[in-house]
Formats: sequence, C-alpha cells, structure tokens
Amino acid sequence: MGASREQFGSRLGFILAAAGSAVGIGNLVGFPVGAAKNGGGAFLVMYALFVFFICLPVMIAEMTTGRASQKDPLGAYTALSNASPGWRLAGWLSIITPFMIAVFYLVITVWIFGYLVESVLGNLDVLAQADTFGAFISGNSLFAYMAGVLALVYLILQGGVKEGIEKAAKILMPALFFMLLVLVVFVLTRDNAFAGVEYYLVPDFDKINAGVVNGALSQAFFSLSLGMGIMVTYGSYIDKKANLPTSAKLVALTDTAVAFAAGLMILPAIFSFNPNVNPDELSESSISMIFSYLPQIFLELQNSLGYVGASIVASLFFLLVFFAAITSLVSIFEVPVASLMSEKNYSRKGSLLLCGALLVIFSLMCAFSFGFFDFFSNFMHYAGSSKSFFDLVYDVFYDTILPLNGLLICLFVRYRWKKKGFNEELEQGAPSFKGSLLERYINFSVGTFIPFILFVIFINTVALKFFGTALIG
Ligand code: PHE
Repeated sequence: MGASREQFGSRLGFILAAAGSAVGIGNLVGFPVGAAKNGGGAFLVMYALFVFFICLPVMIAEMTTGRASQKDPLGAYTALSNASPGWRLAGWLSIITPFMIAVFYLVITVWIFGYLVESVLGNLDVLAQADTFGAFISGNSLFAYMAGVLALVYLILQGGVKEGIEKAAKILMPALFFMLLVLVVFVLTRDNAFAGVEYYLVPDFDKINAGVVNGALSQAFFSLSLGMGIMVTYGSYIDKKANLPTSAKLVALTDTAVAFAAGLMILPAIFSFNPNVNPDELSESSISMIFSYLPQIFLELQNSLGYVGASIVASLFFLLVFFAAITSLVSIFEVPVASLMSEKNYSRKGSLLLCGALLVIFSLMCAFSFGFFDFFSNFMHYAGSSKSFFDLVYDVFYDTILPLNGLLICLFVRYRWKKKGFNEELEQGAPSFKGSLLERYINFSVGTFIPFILFVIFINTVALKFFGTALIG
C-alpha cells in the first residue's frame, strides 16, 4: 500500500457518516406513506424485523469486508479472494452500481435544492401549482441548481474522509435530527393531527400480502444503503479498535428511528393541513409526494399561519430533505472516487474531477429525460412501456442490481473469504461478540436464508421490471 489510508477521526463520526448515508429521501417520504398505505402498525413491525434480522447482518458483512481489506469494494473483493476473476466482477459491480445510482440521485437532489431555494424566496404559491413541477424539471434554471449541488458535493468530498465527509455529517446530521424534531412537534400540535397518527399506526393485517412483504424488505435494504459498496468503503475508513457490530446496530437504529419519526411528521401534516384528504389517493411515489403534493399541503397552512409562516415551514421541510439527500449523495459518490484513488493511485482531487465529469455527463442524460430531448425521454421500450434514460438507470441499478449485490456480498464473506477470517475481523474491537448469539446468528443467516431471500427478490424484480410479470406480488 502507498500512503496510509484515510480514516474517520472518531467512532461517532463514523456512525454519523454511515447514518447520513442511510437517512435519505426514502426515510423521510417514501417510508411513511408506504407504511401508512400498507397496513400501518403491521407494516412497521414487519419492517423493523426485516431491518434487524436481514439487513443488519448484511450491513455488518459489508463493513467487516471493508475494514479487513482497508480497500474500496473492488480492492476488497480482489484482496480477500486472492484475485479470483469472478469475484473481481462482483467488485466491479459494486462500484458501477453506486456510480449509476449517484447519477439519478443527483438529479433528484437538484430538484430538492431548487424547491428549497424557491420556497425560501417566497415562491411557495408557485410550487403548489399543478404544472410547476413539470415546468421546473424541464426548465433551464435546473442547470444553475445542478452547478450548486455539484459544488457542494465537491467541497465536501475534496476535504477527504475526516475533514470532509465526517465534518459534514457532524454538522448536517444533528441539524437534521433537530429540524425533524421541530417539525414533528409542530405538526402533532395542530388540529386533527391525530387522524394522521391513527392512519399511520393502527395495524391492518389484511393489507399485508406477498407484494407488500417484498416491498417492505426492499425498502429496508435500500434505506440502509446496502448493496451500494458504501458500507464497505466507510468500513475501510475505521480503525481496528472500533466495535463494528455495535456501530452497525446504531446506524440501523438511527435510520429506522428517523423513518418512524418522519411518519409522525408527514401523515399528521397531510391530515391536519388539509382535512379533506382522501388517504387512499396518496401516491406512494416519493417524487410526486415531495414535488407535487406536499407544496399544496404546506400552502394550506397559510390559513392559520399566514403566507410567511407557511413558507417558513415549507423551507424547513425542504432543508431537512436536502440535508438527508446531500449526505446520501456524498456517501454514494465517495465509492467510485475512492476506488479510482486506490485502484489507479489517483489523487483525491484528480479522482473527484474525473468521476465528477462522468457524473455530470450521465446526470445530464437523466435530466434530459424529462422533456428536454425525445431521445432520452423515450430511450427504450420494455415490459410493455416506453422508458426514459432516467427510468432505465433507476430500474436496472436501484431496483434490480442492489439485491444482487447484497446476495453476492453474503456469499462472498461466508463461502469465499470464509467464516474464520470474517469472524476474526468482526471480533476485533468487539471481544464480547466472540461466541455470542448474534455471532452465531450472523454466520448462519448470511450463509443461508438471507442470500436465498435476496435471490428471490432479484428474480422477482427482473420478471416484474423487464418482462412485466410478477412471480410474487
Ligand atoms: N438510504 C437512502 C434512502 O433511504 C438511499 C440512498 C443512499 C440512495 C445513498 C443513494 C445513496 O433514501
């Protein structure tokens, strides 16, 4: 190895950075509405079980692989498999996937940034109009907002692991928790708020079917930033004295707590600000919730708080979502950047500039999918409908490849790297973990039913997304 590897400065910094990655748009909007529509309390319990029994072992496997190898995902697969070509392929997949997810996640973050700026400037009334979103995503102001987001990501990542990623997480995450708390308290003290709480929490077991179970597990998996090489990369920045199982538990707990709290903000807000809401018509798509529906809900607040009051609440909300999105974007973009640095010995700056240039090109192709150029708007045709370039990237990388990557890392740690190396690494910094029930559970689950379940999800998604027939659901 050349220069010694960059490291997080503290265990708390590591946990906040990993939690910053995990807490994203999915937690703040996707989870609450998905939970409310799919069985309320019943969904919540199922989701929590999935997080702790299925996703947590995968997260621990990823972090351990990173720390043991002290390398990026490609380097980790290569080093721990003695350069087996098959596993190198898995390594490639786990750096291409985060790059491609960063491509479309950047576009969504840019939209959020735009909505934040517009609501701060007092344009909430415009945002609440039905055709604003369509015009915004195909308008030229988008490029200015994109430049702003890229500059911020560059600024954070060029500071490196400790002075960039960790410092940003230490500022942005507490601010995010605080804003979430303020908004939850504000919303819960409005009239009619408890109708939303009821809709969110009362269990309805009749709504649980195979499709909902599949959806809950996929949501948990994405929400914890698994299958993206992120936890491998962040794991490689932590020292051998850190207790990995405990850190992973804290990250999973924080992510789940934020998702749960977001439900106590979004649903009561919908019910309280607009009492005529028909809950069955709520869209589960985070995108249409954030950009088309919620601005209207915020505008309703002007009846009680005045326009300025409503704009302040909306701005706080968009700032919250923006912080969540930017910490996720930084974490996912760090994967290809770190890989180029260690595989090709690039400097951080050189690697950032090269990956950044590619990111801009692909992200523009995604942004162009929304009415700029027909070529990108109708890029391909599959499963009976026309798909844009954005849809293609989303379907292939976000929906399909993530569970495959999760499956591969499980098989890798258990059958290629082997139980002994994996356990030894896990036990470092966690002496009481040795021989514990959790250790035995992880060893068993990672080698058996977790990869099996991820395999079923992968096959089901391929059937559904590309052939239009669901095997389950
Ligand atoms: N965990 C994020 C969420 O819940 C998903 C994500 C993380 C997406 C990192 C991209 C990058 O929204």
